[in-house]
Order: sequence, then structure tokens, then C-alpha cells
Amino acid sequence: MILSKGNLSQDLLKGEIAIITGAGRGIGFEAARALVWLGAKVVIAEINEKNGKASEESINKEFGADSALFVKTDIGSEKDIDKLAEVALKKYGKVDIVLNNATVFPMGTVKDTLISSWDFSYGVNLRGPVLLAKKFLPQMLERKHGIFVCVSSSGAAPFMGAYEVFKTAQVELANTISAEVDGTGVYAFTIGPGISRTPGFMEGGAKVASLMGMSLDELFELNKNAQISPEAAGAGFALAIAFAKKYHGQETSSIQVLREAKIPFEEGKEVELPQPQPSPEQKVQITKSGENRSAVELYEAVIKTYMEQSEGWKKRNLFERQWVSRDFKKNTGMTIDEMQMTLRALGTSLKTGASMAEFIEPVKQLAAYYAHQQDQLRGFEKNPQKLEENLKIIDSWIMDAKALEQALKS
Ligand SMILES: NC(=O)c1ccc[n+]([C@@H]2O[C@H](COP(=O)([O-])OP(=O)(O)OC[C@H]3O[C@@H](n4cnc5c(N)ncnc54)[C@H](O)[C@@H]3O)[C@@H](O)[C@H]2O)c1
Repeated sequence: MILSKGNLSQDLLKGEIAIITGAGRGIGFEAARALVWLGAKVVIAEINEKNGKASEESINKEFGADSALFVKTDIGSEKDIDKLAEVALKKYGKVDIVLNNATVFPMGTVKDTLISSWDFSYGVNLRGPVLLAKKFLPQMLERKHGIFVCVSSSGAAPFMGAYEVFKTAQVELANTISAEVDGTGVYAFTIGPGISRTPGFMEGGAKVASLMGMSLDELFELNKNAQISPEAAGAGFALAIAFAKKYHGQETSSIQVLREAKIPFEEGKEVELPQPQPSPEQKVQITKSGENRSAVELYEAVIKTYMEQSEGWKKRNLFERQWVSRDFKKNTGMTIDEMQMTLRALGTSLKTGASMAEFIEPVKQLAAYYAHQQDQLRGFEKNPQKLEENLKIIDSWIMDAKALEQALKS
């Protein structure tokens, strides 16, 4: 068990009852194991009877009788969700955690994908999580205790429309719920695993790879920085649940969560997540940072950094790119391109002497985003010297942005 490599108590989820959908195989099965390792009992809501039973048996064998309970469930069916709730509540009296892991991967171009495949995907990838939210959130809110988790993927990607469109909607479902339950003791967030060689992904990925004119191995190679084993991906899901308060309202990833908990998960393999990419010029910039610069000078430093960083983000592979852009929007309230346009408009206003008031908040948000990047870096970077160097560089970006904010106010 990967989680045993960290310094974690096995009581973090003691007494908690977790429903995990699609835990008959792949990441869901591993997440169920990890949840039980952390002290929870799991209800496996799985459509495939053979796999669901096998998961239940395997977990009970590994962790002791009564650790897992299989309830045959099609999550897109209201009747099945009613039955799932009835069985789980009768047995345990409550449900504390819902992990929306089940999925189907219909792949193909938008024009060629049958409408029945879109409907099918909607049922599992969006309708199911909504039905589960409607069924279990009321009792969580009543008890002021609960965790509702959605599972994301890369975001828009060619040949994956009928899958990704609903996965993205699932992210927004978690965002909506997190805002609605804020301050109630119920937490909601989204987690993405990265790319993992599960049975489902091997099938769907093979089709995408062939539409892209490459082999499945080449597709994995293209996204090698986001690769993770199903066991590690599932462990990341369970760990994020154990620290749900921290991830409330966020979209995180298994890789990030494991890194933050300092749990080694892929021995001998360096998995890199989006990090600041300081250029040599920026190292020089640190020495020049200071308060004694005009608004125009500060603006030039801020936009130069921003342009270099955002160009770097755009060149990252698909999974990382989508992750950075969603993380950016979540933290600044605007897209990467909108920030760029806003900064350019600020440049024009500085030249023409127009009002600066509307630019103060975006510049402030940008400084806060860089501070957020520092937090992420503290989780990812294992080399202390490299960490210190990069934190210093980002400090200079923050100082520039904050000094610009002050200059705009005066
Ligand atoms: N594997 C990856 O690389 C990858 C990448 C990005 C996101 N994800 C996400 O991670 C999660 C797990 O993916 P995986 O690769 O382990 O998938 P998988 O296909 O291997 O497993 C999915 C499980 O969901 C079950 N399921 C399907 N329809 C269901 C329904 N109607 N009701 C109940 N169960 C149903 C399947 O029977 C299967 O056991 C998914 O949410 C997926 O979108 C995976």
C-alpha cells in the first residue's frame, strides 16, 4: 500500500462510510482499498456484478470482513441510486463520503460519435453524480458532515468529446456544490488522477491514439509527466478525501496530493507537474526588484514575466495545460488569455493616462496566484536548493505585482 510509505495515521477516516462508484476495477478499486486503509468502510457502487463482487471479496480478504460492501448499481438510474441509499443507510445508518469515480470512455470525433453514445456518457459521467448529490447531500448537510468528490480528466481534447465534455461539467458540478455548502461542514472538490493504464483507459486510449495516428505507447509517452499507476492514483483520491477541508472548492490531482503529503509513489520515475519556469533573465530581475520604480517600469516587469510564464504554460502537454488553465481561472477569476488582455489594456491606460482603478484587482489576483504557485512548488519540489531558488524567483514576481498594485492606487 503506497500510503504506508507516508507518515500517516490509519485512523484518519475511522468510522467514515464511503460510497465509491465504479470501484469494480481500475483506479476506483485502488481508491476503495486506500480509503479502507485510512479507516473507512466502503460501499462499492458498481454496474459490473462480477467485478463488483470480486472487489468486495478482495478488500475484505485484505483488510478484514465487513470492510467493503458491493451494491450492484447503475449510477445513471434513479431507481438504482434509491436502492443504493436504502442498502447503505440500512447497514450503516449514514453516508459520509461520495466519490464519483465511475466512468465510461466513448471516444471519436464529435461528428462521428453516435448521439446514443453522448446520451450514454451523460448518464454515467454527469447524471449519475447529480443523482448521488441529490440523494446524499441533504443528510450530509443535516449532520453538518460530509465529502462529495468529483473526478476530472484533461478537459477539452480531440476525439474525446463525448467523454471530456461531461467530465468538465462534473468539475463545475463540484464547484457549484462547494459554493452552496460553504461553511456547513460539508466539503466538495474535484480530483484528477493523471494518466493511468487502467482497463478503461487502455480501451479508450487505444482508439484516441489510432485517431491521432500513433500507438497507445506513443500517446502515453506524449503525456509521460502525467503518468501514474492506478494504485497511486487511487491512493491520491483517498488521501485528498482525508484532507478534504484543504481541497474544498479546488481541483487537484493525485500527483499533487501525494507530493504534498511527501509520499513517494513511483520509485525511480520523476513525475513533474507544472512549475514556474524562470528564464535566465528573470534570475537577474531579482536583484532589480524594489519599490523605487515607476508604474511603467513595474508594469513592464510584470507583463514580461506574465508573457514568459503563460507561453510556457501553453507549451505543456495536454493534461498539464488544462490543469494549469483551470487552476489559473479558479484562483484569479479570469482565463490566462483574459489576464493577458487585461495587462495589455493596463499598458495602454498607463500610456494615455486613463483611469487605473479597474486594473488594481487583477494585478492583486496575479500576485496572489504567484503566491499559490509557491505553495504548490513547496509540495512538488524535492530538491531543497532548487526549491529555495525558485521560491526566490517567484518572490520577485510577487513583489513586482504588489508594487505595481500600490503604484496604480497612488
Ligand atoms: N485512467 C486514466 O488515465 C484516467 C485519466 C483521467 C481521468 N480518469 C478518471 O478516473 C476515474 C477512474 O477511471 P478508470 O481509468 O479507473 O476507469 P475504468 O473504466 O477502468 O473503470 C470504471 C469503472 O466504472 C464502472 N462503471 C461504468 N458505468 C457505470 C455505471 N453506470 N454505474 C456504476 N459503475 C459504472 C465500470 O464498470 C468500471 O468498473 C474515472 O472517473 C475517469 O474519468 C482516468
